[in-house]
Amino acid sequence: MDATDKDAPVAVVTGAASGIGLAVTKFLVARGYRVVMADWNDELAKKESTALGDQTSVIKCDVASWDSQATMFATAIKIWGRIDVVHANAGIPDQLPLFHDNSIEPQKPKTLAIEVDLYGVIYSTSLALFYIRQNKGRGGKIIITASQAGVYPLATGPLYAAAKSGCINMMRSIAKSCAKEQIYVNCICPGLTDTGLTHNAMDQFPKNIVAPMENHIRTIETFLDTDIYGAAMESDAGGLFNRQKPDYWSPEHQAWLESDETADAWEKGGPLGSSQLGSDHR
Ligand SMILES: NC(=O)c1ccc[n+]([C@@H]2O[C@H](COP(=O)([O-])OP(=O)(O)OC[C@H]3O[C@@H](n4cnc5c(N)ncnc54)[C@H](O)[C@@H]3O)[C@@H](O)[C@H]2O)c1
Repeated sequence: MDATDKDAPVAVVTGAASGIGLAVTKFLVARGYRVVMADWNDELAKKESTALGDQTSVIKCDVASWDSQATMFATAIKIWGRIDVVHANAGIPDQLPLFHDNSIEPQKPKTLAIEVDLYGVIYSTSLALFYIRQNKGRGGKIIITASQAGVYPLATGPLYAAAKSGCINMMRSIAKSCAKEQIYVNCICPGLTDTGLTHNAMDQFPKNIVAPMENHIRTIETFLDTDIYGAAMESDAGGLFNRQKPDYWSPEHQAWLESDETADAWEKGGPLGSSQLGSDHR
């Protein structure tokens, strides 16, 4: 399979220049995918793309910007003609300190981690659905890189944890209805991994808690090769663990929350909320 093979599936990977996104890109290329490497660091992405060959193309993109992502997806379609898999992977850590002590006046918290790690994923998912739905019923896959920090609290990164748990519950909320369109949505939740994000701190940690990249690739392989959906797959040194949502307080409550009739009833109820702020207010 080569770049001119119109039947070769196409993947968009955000944050593909480094770390987990780069490892997934290499795995996809080895499996015959054509891959759009979407990254803010286009210089590094181009270096890696040149090494990988003409099955890859680089599009500079800031995932925190809707316009930047919309342009990136439109360009991807112009280059390759289709999109089958989207891996919303780009992410950054918290800009700390989040909450200052009282020695200074109140400061607006730095929310860039939410903009990149949650809004960026929302934009990627929205665009992925739009383009994958054009696949004439073939469907596709949406993979979101959340984190162990979306499963457990993270004292050193509260907004990072908020963004990542937001990704998991958004994924769980849409997975069932997307699966009806053969679009299978899942999260990978890596543990501590030696990448550009963490490399400088790696000497501080015991080696046996570091997640091997092979486990992350096994997770991605599972998402690609099966019709699993709604999974929050923790991928860590200890292996792969499909983390479940908490128990409901009764089977009837679960049935009510999950039934299609309930979703229909909400829709029939019309728009909710009576905020006095206009819809154009952020
Ligand atoms: N490394 C870990 O221990 C770990 C653990 C759990 C989850 N994760 C998640 O894995 C994902 C990948 O991170 P990584 O560890 O491979 O780090 P990394 O720094 O090696 O790679 C992240 C890539 O994202 C790109 N990027 C950052 N902000 C961007 C933006 N606004 N727009 C476009 N591209 C942007 C960077 O240029 C970089 O190439 C992130 O979502 C991260 O939160 C990492």
